[in-house]
Amino acid sequence: MQDAYRKQYQADCRQIENALSGYFTSKPNWAILYDAMRYSLLAGGKRVRPVLTLAFCRLFGGEAEKALPFACALEMIHTYSLIHDDLPCMDNDDLRRGRPTCHKVYGDAMALLAGDGLLTAAFETLTSPASCCDIPPERTVQAVRVLSRAAGAAGMVGGQTLDMAGVYRSLSAVTEMHQMKTGALLCAASELGCVFAGAGEAGRLAASSYASHLGLAFQVRDDMLDVEGTETELGKKVGADAADGKITFAALWGLEECKRVVAEETALAVKALADLGDVGYLSWLAGVLADRKW
Ligand code: IPE
Ligand code: IPE
Ligand code: MG
Ligand code: MG
Ligand code: MG
Repeated sequence: MQDAYRKQYQADCRQIENALSGYFTSKPNWAILYDAMRYSLLAGGKRVRPVLTLAFCRLFGGEAEKALPFACALEMIHTYSLIHDDLPCMDNDDLRRGRPTCHKVYGDAMALLAGDGLLTAAFETLTSPASCCDIPPERTVQAVRVLSRAAGAAGMVGGQTLDMAGVYRSLSAVTEMHQMKTGALLCAASELGCVFAGAGEAGRLAASSYASHLGLAFQVRDDMLDVEGTETELGKKVGADAADGKITFAALWGLEECKRVVAEETALAVKALADLGDVGYLSWLAGVLADRKW
């Protein structure tokens, strides 16, 4: 079965790569901006968020292929968050997805604009005829609401604000920061799959509970990998958090405690799906992400 899930993940990633490569291909006067956007968007990455959108869409009986614009919208927002996260005024990182960061190649101003371009394009994509014509209009409105809340001040941007403030050290405060900066977009990714497929309230709640536990585990694992991972496998510099004096789970509570939290949150994520039917793929994905080295 593991093999079947791995193949499903590879197939999902292929579809996502293919769909993403179709965006920002025209050559207007501002094509340099499209180059910068595509440079980061098409640099690989695990594509966890769009995969979640497709997987939840499928789970609730939707046609995953038709949900690709929703999935791509998520990946656009995520990529924008990475471009801005790497800027000198934030984490000041040089390497991302195995390549020099966007601002290293295109300069700070263009990287800022590439992020802005991807953020706004996400909503254009979400409401494009390609995704709207297959679902009732109220689902598109719901999707815009879910994604804008998760990406904004009460979600990812708020979490990045707590991260930059660098002063909140209690377990509850760091957990909240992780859930906002990382968990919120993973929740939105899962919920968007549900919204596209027209899942009921109970299904959406279960999906969001799964993704919220997955999100915490994901960021704690990311904190661990900054300590014990390798640049080659991660495609980004290691040891950067400690060098910047970042507040992370690993810095405050050590790797053993991180491992325990990742295992516990992963188990809770899987448990949240208990009543939803064929959840083997999503359970497998949670396990793979908990043990990941990349
Ligand atoms: C990196 O996200 C930033 C975090 C939220 C930890 P990913 O680990 O999903 O990065 P990519 O998309 O695979 O490059
Ligand atoms: C970033 O967290 C979360 C985002 C919202 C981008 P990190 O700063 O730990 O992500 P990496 O380690 O640079 O990928
Ligand atoms: Mg950061
Ligand atoms: Mg960073
Ligand atoms: Mg990190």
